[in-house]
Amino acid sequence: MTGKVRVAVVFGGRSTEHAVSCASAGLILGAIDRDRYDVLPIGIATDGRWVLTSGDPARLALSSGVSPSVESVAVPGAEITPRAGGALIVTAPGEVPRDLGEVDVVLPLLHGTYGEDGTIQGLLEMTGTRYAGAGVFASAAGMDKEYMKLVIAARGLPVGRYVVVRDRDWSGGAGGAGGLGERKRVLDEIAELGWPVFVKPARGGSSVGITRVLSAADLEPAVEAARVHDPKVLVEAAVEGMEVECAVLEGLDGGPPEASVPGQVVVDQGSVFYDFQAKYLAAGTTMRIPAPIPAAAAAEVRRLACAAFEAISCEGLARVDFFYTPAGQILFNEINTMPGMTPASGFPLMWAATGLPLPQLIDRIIETALRKRPGPR
Ligand SMILES: Nc1ncnc2c1ncn2[C@@H]1O[C@H](COP(=O)(O)OP(=O)(O)O)[C@@H](O)[C@H]1O
Ligand SMILES: [Mg+2]
Repeated sequence: MTGKVRVAVVFGGRSTEHAVSCASAGLILGAIDRDRYDVLPIGIATDGRWVLTSGDPARLALSSGVSPSVESVAVPGAEITPRAGGALIVTAPGEVPRDLGEVDVVLPLLHGTYGEDGTIQGLLEMTGTRYAGAGVFASAAGMDKEYMKLVIAARGLPVGRYVVVRDRDWSGGAGGAGGLGERKRVLDEIAELGWPVFVKPARGGSSVGITRVLSAADLEPAVEAARVHDPKVLVEAAVEGMEVECAVLEGLDGGPPEASVPGQVVVDQGSVFYDFQAKYLAAGTTMRIPAPIPAAAAAEVRRLACAAFEAISCEGLARVDFFYTPAGQILFNEINTMPGMTPASGFPLMWAATGLPLPQLIDRIIETALRKRPGPR
């Protein structure tokens, strides 16, 4: 017995954000307090296998050269099976399965599908394992941009205009009957949004599959590009203005959530919007913290960020993103229940600027999870 808290940091995963998740793990594994925590770095390969990894932070950085992956840090052949009660069994070829022991808490540093969407949260609930962050419902609600907006708008937060394009609307469903009529109907609805529009997969992240469309002629290829990632697509009226983010943590001892100082995303000059390249690779993309907005607007962003967190019954942590228009209006864009934790990501930077440096931020997220009893939330 070491007396340390055993934390399984789970990263990688099956989504398009595998490399981003590896980069998030790289930052966390490099900063987590090893005197307090016994850390088990577990990767989920792109094919869904769970493997033990070296967790070497230096090999998990995101750069324009090679994308980091679980494969590149995997301990050869060491596959892991999660078992009831938080136990993890590791099997390697030609070896008797070895029990890695129980973990006290899982930190699912996974972004996107099969990670941030409630699926791994469901698996962990079924095995009775404690985990950090949002539960099944909040994760699913935060992942699906259609239901996210419905819940957020129902709570009275300002949301921009959008049209949902379902598979049935686009391809006419399995039978195809009436498909073209449906497609014309959604295309007409979209035209009413005005141009440009943003076309995005409903359940995506890291800007993968998103296109800014300037005219009707370019709409259909953009919908097809989004449909590669998700049969459901959202088309949104473009909002002019600055992108302002706010980091939220679950309150201590059941208290209300707490919001960080908001930050502005300053997108690299070479990018038209905050796309994948601008987010993770472009040197010119930075966070301006605090965001250069009036004090009253910053206070309102913090209030709305906490309201969004509560609207989906979020737990642990989240980053809530807004647009701040030239007229001073604040519009909700999205909530991320497992925000990026790369060195360039807003979540760790905004908390650091609010007085919570990364090692303490990690402590807070783990402590919040440890205080909960396993079971329905
Ligand atoms: N309605 C919109 N108006 C203006 N810009 C948008 C809009 N929707 C998305 N964007 C741009 O695309 C980026 C990614 O969109 P977002 O909805 O946040 O998807 P993701 O979940 O992939 O981050 C935003 O950060 C912003 O730069
Ligand atoms: Mg976003």
